[in-house]
Amino acid sequence: MAPASQSRGDAESLGKAKAYVKSYGCQMNVYDATRMADLLAARGYAEAADEDEADLVVLNTCHIREKATDKVYSELGRLAKLKSERGAEGRDYKIIVAGCVAQAEGEEVLRRQRAVDLVVGPQSYHRLADLLTRAEAGERLAETDFAVADKFAALRRMAAEGKRVRDVTAFVTAQEGCDKFCSFCVVPYTRGAEVSRRPSEIIEEAEALAAAGVRELTIIGQNVNAYSGTDQHGAPWSLPRLLARLGRIEGVTRLRYTTSHPVDMTQELIDAHAELPFLAPFVHLPVQSGSNRILKAMNRRHDASFYLDIVARLRAARPDIALSSDFIVGFPGETDADFEATLELIRAVGFASTFSFKYSPRPGTPGAEREDQIDESVKSERLAILQTLVEEQRQAFNAATVGRTVEVLFEKAGRHEGQIAGKSPYMQPVHAMGGAELIGKTLPVTIVAAGSNSLAGRIAGRAIPNDAREAAL
Ligand code: SAH
Ligand code: SF4
Ligand code: F3S
Repeated sequence: MAPASQSRGDAESLGKAKAYVKSYGCQMNVYDATRMADLLAARGYAEAADEDEADLVVLNTCHIREKATDKVYSELGRLAKLKSERGAEGRDYKIIVAGCVAQAEGEEVLRRQRAVDLVVGPQSYHRLADLLTRAEAGERLAETDFAVADKFAALRRMAAEGKRVRDVTAFVTAQEGCDKFCSFCVVPYTRGAEVSRRPSEIIEEAEALAAAGVRELTIIGQNVNAYSGTDQHGAPWSLPRLLARLGRIEGVTRLRYTTSHPVDMTQELIDAHAELPFLAPFVHLPVQSGSNRILKAMNRRHDASFYLDIVARLRAARPDIALSSDFIVGFPGETDADFEATLELIRAVGFASTFSFKYSPRPGTPGAEREDQIDESVKSERLAILQTLVEEQRQAFNAATVGRTVEVLFEKAGRHEGQIAGKSPYMQPVHAMGGAELIGKTLPVTIVAAGSNSLAGRIAGRAIPNDAREAAL
């Protein structure tokens, strides 16, 4: 819960009850953690460094990996011990289970682990304060239903105090859920069908964040480019329309969006990369495999050439665009030739960054039912080969930035005295010498060296206005 705590001094938090939010999952999950942290902070909880220091702990669970549920129960066993030790000292310890395992298991969690006070699904976080009051009164609850409420009241209240209450960057949800049913994936079962939020609700949240000091917004959804909102007049809003509108909010410097599915990558969205100067030249576009046979078995609804065509059109719209992707190796039935096709696609694209995973069977998904599962040793071998290749590409991409001057949004103090750190438009971490007053500002920075994980730069000019509207002029 780092973001919420930054501006509240230690002295202020002395003697307060402390809360710890532990996250395991995707961007949606991290976003939810921040929202819960805001709500807990508004209720008077200070941030705890870990579960030992806390009086209340939230396990914000993810359901995507194998045995995720078992791992949650074993973690809860550990927390239950901690709780009974605290109980022996006459102290209270609250355990909350949130996230996708909470959604999937519901009341079962309360039955299986007596120490849990509250189970709350991703659709119900805005009711956390009420639910907590009831839990504090001794009720044990599981809440996984959807209900509408003012989700951002806590944030607005804090922002009204007039100080930076959030980090420089934040997530905003535009869309939740997924109906793609890739045959390896559990998300459509845990998060439900695709739902798009109303544009007015998203704009309102983005404005509240900008007022709280946020300068870069990442618009998120499991398939964010499938965003299809409807405004109060019944008019449809696509993601590019939403991005164009959000870029006009005062204080917002930079916009990103993630995660996108290739089949929803419209020409309108590709064109937005040419037309909107505040839209970062970076797209995370998971492809999973380069083999048409495997893509079909994964139910991805596109082939390799479809993906390469999108990449070509993105590069035509914005020649410097950086690309990122997710890969799964060892999907059932994957042959050496299939794997080679994946490497070929990677060589053809040249990625700035990637996430790669060994296929892990998820009970209830079609992939898990297949009998042609791949040996763990083969998966490990393929993953190592793939990761060597993408690491070379990442290093090459970073090395190519050396000598260029890029716009860096500074987010925090650097590791060394007098240093500040931020990100390039291409998502590269950059550090430079500079004072804390530059945090939240965007400056031209000449990159002088590329390390293994970050770039070193020299500030090369004055701050660029923190206002996308001016930048667009
Ligand atoms: N909606 C997004 C993200 C889905 S989850 C998308 O479609 O891209 C994030 C990543 O986890 C996926 O892109 C995939 O690479 C990986 N993943 C999902 N299920 C998996 C599984 N069963 N085994 C291994 N990796 C998996
Ligand atoms: Fe999972 Fe596929 Fe949906 Fe992404 S698009 S969340 S991988 S089912
Ligand atoms: Fe995990 Fe749920 Fe996200 S299953 S990947 S936390 S949508």
